[in-house]
Amino acid sequence: MVKTILAIETSCDETAIAVLEACGGLRSPRFRILKNTVSSQIEIHRPWGGVVPNLAKREHQKNLPILFNKLKTNKLKADLIAVTVGPGLEPALWTGINFAKEIHGKHFPGSALIGTNHLEGHLYSFLLPYKGYKPRNMRDVFPAIQLIVSGGHTILVLMISLTEIKILGETRDDAVGEAFDKVARMLHLPYPGGPEIERLANEAKKLKTNEAIQFPRPMINSKDYDFSFSGLKTSVLYHLRDNPKSGESKTNVAASFQKAAFDVLISKTSRAAAEFKTRSVILSGGVAANKTLRKRLSAACRRSGIGFISAPIRFQTDNAAMIAAAGYINHLKKKNRRLSAKGGMDL
Ligand code: KG4
Ligand code: ZN
Repeated sequence: MVKTILAIETSCDETAIAVLEACGGLRSPRFRILKNTVSSQIEIHRPWGGVVPNLAKREHQKNLPILFNKLKTNKLKADLIAVTVGPGLEPALWTGINFAKEIHGKHFPGSALIGTNHLEGHLYSFLLPYKGYKPRNMRDVFPAIQLIVSGGHTILVLMISLTEIKILGETRDDAVGEAFDKVARMLHLPYPGGPEIERLANEAKKLKTNEAIQFPRPMINSKDYDFSFSGLKTSVLYHLRDNPKSGESKTNVAASFQKAAFDVLISKTSRAAAEFKTRSVILSGGVAANKTLRKRLSAACRRSGIGFISAPIRFQTDNAAMIAAAGYINHLKKKNRRLSAKGGMDL
Protein backbone atom coordinates (compact mmCIF):
# COMPACT_ATOMS: atom_id res chain seq x y z
CA MET A 1 0.00 0.00 0.00
CA VAL A 2 1.27 3.47 -0.86
CA LYS A 3 2.07 5.69 2.12
CA THR A 4 2.49 9.44 1.97
CA ILE A 5 5.30 10.73 4.18
CA LEU A 6 5.90 14.30 5.21
CA ALA A 7 9.44 14.80 6.54
CA ILE A 8 11.11 17.61 8.46
CA GLU A 9 14.86 18.17 8.87
CA THR A 10 16.37 20.89 11.06
CA SER A 11 19.46 19.27 12.61
CA CYS A 12 21.97 21.89 11.47
CA ASP A 13 21.87 24.83 9.07
CA GLU A 14 19.36 23.68 6.46
CA THR A 15 15.62 23.91 7.05
CA ALA A 16 14.02 21.22 4.89
CA ILE A 17 10.57 19.74 4.29
CA ALA A 18 9.78 16.98 1.82
CA VAL A 19 6.74 14.95 0.81
CA LEU A 20 7.29 11.48 -0.62
CA GLU A 21 5.17 8.51 -1.56
CA ALA A 22 6.57 5.16 -0.54
CA CYS A 23 5.59 1.55 -1.20
CA GLY A 24 7.13 -1.91 -1.00
CA GLY A 25 8.66 -3.84 1.87
CA LEU A 26 12.20 -3.97 3.23
CA ARG A 27 13.38 -6.03 0.24
CA SER A 28 12.23 -3.49 -2.34
CA PRO A 29 11.18 -0.11 -0.92
CA ARG A 30 10.33 2.45 -3.59
CA PHE A 31 9.89 6.18 -3.35
CA ARG A 32 8.36 8.97 -5.40
CA ILE A 33 9.28 12.53 -4.54
CA LEU A 34 6.36 14.93 -4.58
CA LYS A 35 8.09 17.89 -2.93
CA ASN A 36 11.64 18.45 -1.77
CA THR A 37 12.26 21.92 -0.36
CA VAL A 38 15.38 23.25 1.37
CA SER A 39 16.03 26.69 2.76
CA SER A 40 19.74 27.18 3.35
CA GLN A 41 21.09 29.38 6.14
CA ILE A 42 24.63 29.55 4.77
CA GLU A 43 24.54 33.33 4.24
CA ILE A 44 23.36 33.87 7.85
CA HIS A 45 26.20 31.86 9.39
CA ARG A 46 28.97 32.85 6.96
CA PRO A 47 30.08 36.02 8.82
CA TRP A 48 30.70 33.83 11.91
CA GLY A 49 32.72 31.24 9.97
CA GLY A 50 30.49 28.38 11.19
CA VAL A 51 27.00 27.48 12.41
CA VAL A 52 25.75 29.49 15.41
CA PRO A 53 23.17 27.26 17.18
CA ASN A 54 20.82 30.01 18.36
CA LEU A 55 20.82 31.72 14.98
CA ALA A 56 20.06 28.35 13.40
CA LYS A 57 17.12 27.90 15.79
CA ARG A 58 15.73 31.34 14.98
CA GLU A 59 16.00 30.74 11.23
CA HIS A 60 14.36 27.31 11.45
CA GLN A 61 11.46 28.84 13.40
CA LYS A 62 11.08 31.47 10.70
CA ASN A 63 11.47 29.16 7.70
CA LEU A 64 9.47 26.07 8.72
CA PRO A 65 6.03 27.74 8.38
CA ILE A 66 7.10 29.34 5.07
CA LEU A 67 8.14 25.99 3.56
CA PHE A 68 5.11 24.22 5.06
CA ASN A 69 2.61 26.75 3.68
CA LYS A 70 4.03 26.25 0.19
CA LEU A 71 2.94 22.59 0.36
CA LYS A 72 -0.77 23.53 0.07
CA THR A 73 -1.66 21.30 2.99
CA ASN A 74 -5.41 21.44 2.52
CA LYS A 75 -4.92 18.93 -0.32
CA LEU A 76 -2.27 16.88 1.43
CA LYS A 77 -2.96 13.62 3.24
CA ALA A 78 0.01 12.32 5.22
CA ASP A 79 0.17 8.81 6.65
CA LEU A 80 3.49 9.38 8.36
CA ILE A 81 5.32 12.43 9.65
CA ALA A 82 9.06 11.83 10.03
CA VAL A 83 11.17 14.32 11.92
CA THR A 84 14.90 14.32 12.70
CA VAL A 85 15.52 13.90 16.44
CA GLY A 86 19.35 13.60 16.34
CA PRO A 87 22.27 13.82 15.98
CA GLY A 88 22.69 17.57 15.54
CA LEU A 89 22.37 20.87 17.36
CA GLU A 90 19.75 20.43 20.07
CA PRO A 91 18.14 23.91 19.84
CA ALA A 92 17.82 23.36 16.07
CA LEU A 93 16.44 19.82 16.47
CA TRP A 94 13.80 20.99 18.95
CA THR A 95 12.35 23.50 16.48
CA GLY A 96 11.72 20.67 14.00
CA ILE A 97 10.28 18.35 16.65
CA ASN A 98 7.95 21.01 18.06
CA PHE A 99 6.82 22.02 14.59
CA ALA A 100 6.14 18.37 13.69
CA LYS A 101 4.02 17.95 16.82
CA GLU A 102 2.13 21.14 16.06
CA ILE A 103 1.22 20.27 12.46
CA HIS A 104 0.44 16.70 13.49
CA GLY A 105 -2.14 17.96 15.98
CA LYS A 106 -3.57 20.62 13.66
CA HIS A 107 -3.50 19.03 10.21
CA PHE A 108 -2.76 15.30 10.38
CA PRO A 109 -4.08 13.93 13.69
CA GLY A 110 -4.55 10.43 12.25
CA SER A 111 -0.99 10.05 11.00
CA ALA A 112 1.93 8.37 12.77
CA LEU A 113 4.68 10.66 14.06
CA ILE A 114 8.12 9.07 13.68
CA GLY A 115 11.33 10.30 15.34
CA THR A 116 14.14 9.73 12.81
CA ASN A 117 17.94 9.47 13.04
CA HIS A 118 19.71 11.94 10.71
CA LEU A 119 22.51 9.42 10.03
CA GLU A 120 19.93 6.86 8.89
CA GLY A 121 18.76 9.56 6.51
CA HIS A 122 22.23 9.65 4.91
CA LEU A 123 22.42 5.82 5.09
CA TYR A 124 19.19 5.39 3.08
CA SER A 125 19.63 8.38 0.75
CA PHE A 126 20.84 6.03 -2.01
CA LEU A 127 17.27 4.70 -2.31
CA LEU A 128 15.90 8.06 -3.46
CA PRO A 129 14.84 8.30 -7.11
CA TYR A 130 16.06 10.83 -9.67
CA LYS A 131 15.79 11.36 -13.40
CA GLY A 132 16.87 8.19 -15.15
CA TYR A 133 16.85 6.16 -11.92
CA LYS A 134 15.84 2.51 -12.17
CA PRO A 135 14.56 0.77 -9.04
CA ARG A 136 17.39 -1.34 -7.67
CA ASN A 137 17.22 -5.01 -7.06
CA MET A 138 18.55 -5.27 -3.51
CA ARG A 139 20.22 -8.56 -4.43
CA ASP A 140 22.60 -6.58 -6.67
CA VAL A 141 23.37 -4.12 -3.88
CA PHE A 142 24.04 -6.24 -0.79
CA PRO A 143 26.28 -7.01 0.90
CA ALA A 144 27.57 -3.45 0.61
CA ILE A 145 30.07 -1.16 2.24
CA GLN A 146 28.74 2.31 2.89
CA LEU A 147 31.02 5.27 3.60
CA ILE A 148 29.15 8.12 5.33
CA VAL A 149 31.14 11.35 5.21
CA SER A 150 29.58 14.50 6.65
CA GLY A 151 30.39 17.55 8.74
CA GLY A 152 29.94 15.62 11.98
CA HIS A 153 30.68 12.00 11.01
CA THR A 154 32.98 9.66 9.11
CA ILE A 155 31.64 6.12 9.38
CA LEU A 156 32.33 2.92 7.48
CA VAL A 157 29.36 0.56 7.59
CA LEU A 158 28.93 -3.03 6.45
CA MET A 159 25.36 -3.50 5.19
CA ILE A 160 24.21 -7.12 4.89
CA SER A 161 20.74 -5.87 4.04
CA LEU A 162 18.79 -2.64 4.53
CA THR A 163 18.38 -3.39 8.19
CA GLU A 164 21.32 -5.64 9.16
CA ILE A 165 24.20 -3.26 9.52
CA LYS A 166 27.52 -3.31 11.35
CA ILE A 167 29.73 -0.29 11.98
CA LEU A 168 33.28 -1.25 10.95
CA GLY A 169 34.99 1.98 11.91
CA GLU A 170 34.58 5.69 12.64
CA THR A 171 36.74 8.73 13.02
CA ARG A 172 38.56 8.96 16.34
CA ASP A 173 38.67 12.76 16.23
CA ASP A 174 37.54 15.20 13.51
CA ALA A 175 35.03 14.20 10.86
CA VAL A 176 36.38 14.60 7.34
CA GLY A 177 33.91 17.43 6.55
CA GLU A 178 34.98 19.19 9.73
CA ALA A 179 38.64 18.94 8.60
CA PHE A 180 37.65 20.46 5.22
CA ASP A 181 35.87 23.32 7.02
CA LYS A 182 38.84 23.95 9.36
CA VAL A 183 41.47 23.85 6.62
CA ALA A 184 39.31 26.24 4.57
CA ARG A 185 39.30 28.64 7.51
CA MET A 186 43.13 28.45 7.68
CA LEU A 187 43.17 29.43 4.00
CA HIS A 188 40.73 32.31 4.72
CA LEU A 189 38.03 30.75 2.59
CA PRO A 190 34.36 31.33 3.42
CA TYR A 191 32.12 28.86 5.26
CA PRO A 192 31.23 26.09 4.39
CA GLY A 193 34.75 25.11 3.45
CA GLY A 194 34.17 21.81 1.62
CA PRO A 195 32.96 23.25 -1.69
CA GLU A 196 35.65 25.99 -1.52
CA ILE A 197 38.45 23.44 -1.10
CA GLU A 198 37.02 21.43 -3.98
CA ARG A 199 36.92 24.55 -6.18
CA LEU A 200 40.56 25.42 -5.40
CA ALA A 201 41.68 21.83 -5.90
CA ASN A 202 40.04 21.85 -9.34
CA GLU A 203 41.79 25.11 -10.17
CA ALA A 204 45.12 23.61 -9.14
CA LYS A 205 44.51 20.80 -11.59
CA LYS A 206 43.77 23.28 -14.41
CA LEU A 207 46.70 25.53 -13.59
CA LYS A 208 48.93 22.50 -13.05
CA THR A 209 50.05 24.00 -9.73
CA ASN A 210 49.26 20.78 -7.90
CA GLU A 211 52.82 19.73 -7.12
CA ALA A 212 51.54 17.74 -4.19
CA ILE A 213 52.77 18.79 -0.78
CA GLN A 214 53.34 15.56 1.11
CA PHE A 215 50.77 15.80 3.89
CA PRO A 216 50.34 12.67 6.06
CA ARG A 217 47.66 10.05 5.39
CA PRO A 218 46.70 9.23 9.00
CA MET A 219 45.88 5.59 9.79
CA ILE A 220 45.97 4.59 6.11
CA ASN A 221 47.85 1.41 7.00
CA SER A 222 46.18 0.62 10.33
CA LYS A 223 44.51 -2.80 10.35
CA ASP A 224 41.20 -1.46 11.66
CA TYR A 225 38.65 0.67 9.83
CA ASP A 226 38.91 3.75 12.01
CA PHE A 227 39.93 7.17 10.72
CA SER A 228 41.68 10.24 12.11
CA PHE A 229 41.77 13.63 10.44
CA SER A 230 42.94 15.98 13.16
CA GLY A 231 46.66 15.23 12.54
CA LEU A 232 46.24 15.98 8.83
CA LYS A 233 44.52 19.28 9.67
CA THR A 234 47.36 20.18 12.07
CA SER A 235 50.03 19.41 9.48
CA VAL A 236 48.34 21.85 7.10
CA LEU A 237 48.43 24.44 9.91
CA TYR A 238 52.16 23.82 10.55
CA HIS A 239 52.91 23.88 6.83
CA LEU A 240 51.25 27.30 6.48
CA ARG A 241 53.05 28.57 9.60
CA ASP A 242 56.48 27.33 8.46
CA ASN A 243 56.19 28.46 4.84
CA PRO A 244 54.63 31.92 5.10
CA LYS A 245 56.56 33.42 2.22
CA SER A 246 57.01 30.42 -0.01
CA GLY A 247 54.65 31.91 -2.58
CA GLU A 248 53.03 28.54 -2.74
CA SER A 249 49.51 28.97 -3.92
CA LYS A 250 46.45 28.29 -1.80
CA THR A 251 45.26 26.09 -4.63
CA ASN A 252 48.21 23.76 -4.15
CA VAL A 253 47.63 23.48 -0.38
CA ALA A 254 43.90 22.80 -0.92
CA ALA A 255 44.58 20.19 -3.61
CA SER A 256 47.25 18.41 -1.55
CA PHE A 257 45.04 18.35 1.57
CA GLN A 258 42.05 17.04 -0.39
CA LYS A 259 44.18 14.35 -2.00
CA ALA A 260 45.60 13.18 1.35
CA ALA A 261 42.11 12.98 2.93
CA PHE A 262 40.60 11.12 -0.04
CA ASP A 263 43.54 8.69 -0.32
CA VAL A 264 42.70 7.48 3.20
CA LEU A 265 38.93 7.28 2.60
CA ILE A 266 39.34 5.40 -0.69
CA SER A 267 42.01 3.03 0.57
CA LYS A 268 40.03 1.96 3.64
CA THR A 269 36.72 1.69 1.83
CA SER A 270 38.28 -0.44 -0.93
CA ARG A 271 39.99 -2.67 1.62
CA ALA A 272 36.69 -3.22 3.47
CA ALA A 273 34.87 -4.00 0.22
CA ALA A 274 37.54 -6.61 -0.64
CA GLU A 275 37.60 -8.15 2.84
CA PHE A 276 33.82 -8.53 3.01
CA LYS A 277 33.48 -9.42 -0.69
CA THR A 278 30.73 -6.89 -1.18
CA ARG A 279 28.68 -6.39 -4.32
CA SER A 280 28.75 -2.63 -4.03
CA VAL A 281 30.12 0.47 -2.35
CA ILE A 282 27.71 3.24 -1.35
CA LEU A 283 28.89 6.80 -0.72
CA SER A 284 26.79 9.31 1.25
CA GLY A 285 26.87 12.51 3.34
CA GLY A 286 27.73 16.15 2.59
CA VAL A 287 31.34 15.39 1.55
CA ALA A 288 29.91 12.97 -1.04
CA ALA A 289 28.91 16.13 -2.93
CA ASN A 290 32.61 16.34 -3.90
CA LYS A 291 32.93 15.28 -7.56
CA THR A 292 36.57 14.22 -7.22
CA LEU A 293 35.72 11.84 -4.37
CA ARG A 294 32.80 10.40 -6.34
CA LYS A 295 34.97 9.94 -9.43
CA ARG A 296 37.92 8.39 -7.62
CA LEU A 297 35.85 5.98 -5.53
CA SER A 298 33.75 5.00 -8.51
CA ALA A 299 36.93 4.29 -10.54
CA ALA A 300 38.34 2.18 -7.68
CA CYS A 301 35.11 0.14 -7.63
CA ARG A 302 35.19 -0.32 -11.40
CA ARG A 303 38.74 -1.66 -11.18
CA SER A 304 37.60 -4.20 -8.57
CA GLY A 305 34.49 -5.16 -10.54
CA ILE A 306 31.98 -4.00 -7.92
CA GLY A 307 29.09 -1.56 -8.13
CA PHE A 308 29.29 2.06 -7.02
CA ILE A 309 26.15 3.83 -5.78
CA SER A 310 25.78 7.44 -4.74
CA ALA A 311 22.66 9.62 -4.81
CA PRO A 312 22.72 12.96 -6.67
CA ILE A 313 24.30 15.88 -4.82
CA ARG A 314 20.94 17.37 -3.70
CA PHE A 315 20.35 14.23 -1.62
CA GLN A 316 23.88 14.23 -0.11
CA THR A 317 23.87 17.61 1.61
CA ASP A 318 21.21 17.83 4.30
CA ASN A 319 17.65 17.42 3.00
CA ALA A 320 14.28 16.09 4.17
CA ALA A 321 13.73 13.54 1.36
CA MET A 322 16.35 11.29 2.98
CA ILE A 323 14.57 11.70 6.35
CA ALA A 324 11.34 10.53 4.70
CA ALA A 325 13.16 7.46 3.34
CA ALA A 326 14.60 6.65 6.78
CA GLY A 327 11.18 7.30 8.37
CA TYR A 328 9.59 4.78 5.99
CA ILE A 329 12.24 2.13 6.70
CA ASN A 330 11.71 2.65 10.43
CA HIS A 331 7.96 2.40 9.93
CA LEU A 332 8.44 -0.95 8.14
CA LYS A 333 10.71 -2.09 10.97
CA LYS A 334 8.11 -0.83 13.47
CA LYS A 335 10.83 1.20 15.10
CA ASN A 336 10.15 4.62 16.54
CA ARG A 337 12.35 6.98 18.50
CA ARG A 338 11.33 9.28 21.32
CA LEU A 339 10.30 12.71 20.13
CA SER A 340 13.07 14.35 22.08
CA ALA A 341 16.22 16.00 20.69
CA LYS A 342 19.39 13.97 21.17
CA GLY A 343 22.43 15.88 19.93
CA GLY A 344 24.85 12.96 20.21
CA MET A 345 22.69 10.16 18.79
CA ASP A 346 24.64 7.29 17.17
CA LEU A 347 23.82 5.38 14.01
O1 KG4 B 1 25.79 16.03 5.52
P1 KG4 B 1 26.03 17.49 5.66
O2 KG4 B 1 25.29 18.43 4.74
O3 KG4 B 1 25.75 17.95 7.12
C1 KG4 B 1 26.07 17.13 8.22
O4 KG4 B 1 25.28 16.19 8.50
O5 KG4 B 1 27.15 17.36 8.78
O6 KG4 B 1 27.62 17.72 5.51
C2 KG4 B 1 28.18 18.97 5.60
C3 KG4 B 1 29.68 18.86 5.36
C4 KG4 B 1 30.43 20.16 5.62
O7 KG4 B 1 31.57 19.88 6.40
C5 KG4 B 1 30.82 20.62 4.22
O8 KG4 B 1 32.01 21.38 4.18
C6 KG4 B 1 30.99 19.29 3.51
O9 KG4 B 1 29.94 18.50 3.99
N1 KG4 B 1 30.89 19.43 2.05
C7 KG4 B 1 31.91 19.16 1.21
C8 KG4 B 1 31.44 19.49 -0.09
N2 KG4 B 1 30.15 19.95 0.01
C9 KG4 B 1 29.83 19.90 1.34
N3 KG4 B 1 33.14 18.67 1.42
C10 KG4 B 1 33.95 18.50 0.35
N4 KG4 B 1 33.57 18.82 -0.92
C11 KG4 B 1 32.34 19.31 -1.18
N5 KG4 B 1 31.98 19.61 -2.42
ZN1 ZN C 1 23.96 15.49 7.33
